[in-house]
Amino acid sequence: LKDGAVTSMISREQPDETSDGRTLLVLYGSESGNAQDVAERVGRDARRHHFKARVISMDAYDIATLIEEPLVIFVCSTSGQGVEPRNMTKLWKTLLRADLPVDLFDGMDFAVFGLGDSSYARYNWASKKLQRRLQSLGAREIWERGDADDQHYLGIDGAFDPWIDGLFRVLLAMYPLPPGVEVVPKDYLYPPRVRLEWVDSPELPLSNVPFSFPGSHPANLLRIRRLTRSDWYQDVRHIEFEFHDDVSYSPGDIAVLHPENDPDEVQHFMERMGWADVADRPFRALPNDLERPIPEDWPEVMTLRIAFTRYLDILGVPRRSFFESLVHFTADQLEIEKLQDFCSPEGQDDLYAYCHRVRRTIAEVLTEFRSVQIPQDYVFDVFPEIRPREFSIASSVKCHPRQVHLCVAIVQYKTRLKTPRKGVCTTWLTRLKEGDAVQIALEPGTMHLPPLPSTPILLVGPGTGVAPMRAFIEHRIQQEKSKENTLYFGCRSLDADCHYKEEWMAYQNKGQLVCRIAASRDQPRKVYVQNLIVEDAERVWRIVHEHKGYVLISGSSNKMPLAVRQAVEAVLTGEGKLSAEGAKEYVKRMEMSGRWQEECWS
Ligand code: 2AM
Repeated sequence: LKDGAVTSMISREQPDETSDGRTLLVLYGSESGNAQDVAERVGRDARRHHFKARVISMDAYDIATLIEEPLVIFVCSTSGQGVEPRNMTKLWKTLLRADLPVDLFDGMDFAVFGLGDSSYARYNWASKKLQRRLQSLGAREIWERGDADDQHYLGIDGAFDPWIDGLFRVLLAMYPLPPGVEVVPKDYLYPPRVRLEWVDSPELPLSNVPFSFPGSHPANLLRIRRLTRSDWYQDVRHIEFEFHDDVSYSPGDIAVLHPENDPDEVQHFMERMGWADVADRPFRALPNDLERPIPEDWPEVMTLRIAFTRYLDILGVPRRSFFESLVHFTADQLEIEKLQDFCSPEGQDDLYAYCHRVRRTIAEVLTEFRSVQIPQDYVFDVFPEIRPREFSIASSVKCHPRQVHLCVAIVQYKTRLKTPRKGVCTTWLTRLKEGDAVQIALEPGTMHLPPLPSTPILLVGPGTGVAPMRAFIEHRIQQEKSKENTLYFGCRSLDADCHYKEEWMAYQNKGQLVCRIAASRDQPRKVYVQNLIVEDAERVWRIVHEHKGYVLISGSSNKMPLAVRQAVEAVLTGEGKLSAEGAKEYVKRMEMSGRWQEECWS
């Protein structure tokens, strides 16, 4: 199919008059982008059911107008320890105010969909809290809460599909369609969001179009060095950026980066799509559908190469909606059948085996479905956006004015597919050369130092979990009266992956830090940070109980925090003669009061 043939099959956008009086707001709180994706799917389904839907991030929404909303669908994720996503914090604080009347939302109907991981105790905590709070403020829940579970082999879809079907059954009963109006079929192809208007001017190189994103600051790469031994299986880098202007951030904060796709991959993709000749030809993306504009901060004039380098994802694993859109753009019967299978409930195992298990990328899927030809006007509909990535900051701005340091494990692994899988962002970081320009946003993290420098801290950060610990330590040694700083670090071998060993030893020699290192594989029996904590019972008891110190834990294993918690509980039962139950309660109370904080990822 040629571009022209496909577009002529599509009707021009008609305003949907059936949707008058049928409006729905989808508010999402998203950390990694999954909740946003779900919210957009709710929006698309709402549109098929002739609702006018607005899909907005919780922190971009004007909370004062929430009481006027008749129908709101909330989508929110819960990370690790039951923490709500950062873009939900403002809304949540407002809803928690004690002076709110109990009938505040009595004009609002709502439903909640949560995304979480049932391997954590506080599974879907944020969505449950939100649901209960809305009910206590008089809002009416019209459909039971949906709980997506990362542990489900179908991922989010496992819970989302039945939930969304149920939601629209309820909504159609509440808002019946006028006679003769049907729900738009799932496979209907809406007109594209934009229309590309080619600009009659010479080629536009990538480097001529500046890049930024909301909240970002310009910076340059200062230096990058490998922390792990050159022959070590894992490549962990220390990366320093210098901002153009002064910036401020606190220890525990997070740096947000937008990666670019690999230029070779982009070129390869352009060739596959038959766009190599026009890849650098400038165009304007004129809005075609006012309800689904492309983000305001994207450049007015860009090229396909710019779009697929900076904004559109081709190296991520495709979601089901991607296959749903491909069905429209191939005439090959075999391919159509395969795509339809992937989109059907019965085909979910096949889709999982084809994409998720082996981490097949969008670009790879398109080289396999060779007849698919996507009209250029549709690129902003078919391809998902490149997500920003977050990293714990590994430096204190007090020690390194205008700088931010990261400690990053470069992601690369094998699956059954021939070419190794590579992390988009970490691979982009390794491609950067000294002096290269980047944009970085700084955002508050979830861990904080105690307000008083005299309060001792006990830090636990094996592997790259040590990143925020370096920021805490640097900050504390700059503070007068900072008392005890203790670090439990874990690595496999002292001479291969003991990140920042020289720095820890230098602080220790000056009496500024006690550093305990669990080198798990330097001896026949494995030693982990939790083993050292038990070994150091007396010290841990003194810090935790006698001096009311803070315990801060960060790491890439979701088993580690629980093991550390059990180790501290063992100290409390041993040294403090608490019962097992009492020790558990003790740690829980520490957590409630902010004396116990975890930031872990898997
Ligand atoms: P291992 O790889 O030898 O099992 C940083 O990754 C360090 O954390 C490594 O030494 C790793 O040990 C260790 N680690 C792995 N799983 C852990 C767990 N459940 N608790 C504590 N440390 C762990």
